[in-house]
Amino acid sequence: MRGVIFRGLEELVIEALGMQAWDELLEAYAPTGRVYVSPTSYPDEELFALAQGVAAKLGKPLTEVLAIFGQSLFGFLAEKHKGIAAKFESFEELVLSIDSVIHMEVKKLYDEPNLPSINVVKEDDKTLILEYCSKRKLCFCAEGLLHGAAQHYSRKLSIEHPQCMHNGAEHCTLILHLD
Ligand code: HEM
Ligand code: ZN
Repeated sequence: MRGVIFRGLEELVIEALGMQAWDELLEAYAPTGRVYVSPTSYPDEELFALAQGVAAKLGKPLTEVLAIFGQSLFGFLAEKHKGIAAKFESFEELVLSIDSVIHMEVKKLYDEPNLPSINVVKEDDKTLILEYCSKRKLCFCAEGLLHGAAQHYSRKLSIEHPQCMHNGAEHCTLILHLD
């Protein structure tokens, strides 16, 4: 995973738990002297270990921590890549463009990024169906990112997750209900 994602986690942890907590997590789960640089790749396991450490500190399940992280990550990524997120006038437009525009731009900016495959179809005015597939199985993070995006456009969103890679499915299905 790219350093930019670790920086997003760092920002959230420092905000929620303070600098000392982040230093403790680094000491426990990262190699000595680790500094995360946005365009550089670091092992996925390191991110999972840090997230697990945050979950332990908060006494919350990892899935919940990944969802909270995803939600704050959307704002962080949108701020870091202002041009990309500002292209879209609505939540629907943004979500329909994750693979074809947003992550495509990411591929131009970062050398060989590790991105999921995300397919979205519009079911009706209030419903989008999103299929998520990635060997990292970060669907809970994806849910958080979607909530972050909804917040950005002041939309009320609820998500159903009837099919999940964590239960052996080939891809996750997320049904997005908008008000
Ligand atoms: C990675 C989903 C918007 C840039 C990821 C990952 C997920 C995801 C789940 C983790 C990797 C994986 O699952 O395999 C989404 C969703 C979005 C969204 C659902 C919108 C609701 C954005 C935006 C940006 C962005 C707005 C920046 C402009 C990235 C980058 C990575 C990433 C840089 C890391 C790539 C790497 O580590 O090599 N995205 N994303 N995403 N995304 Fe997105
Ligand atoms: Zn899932």
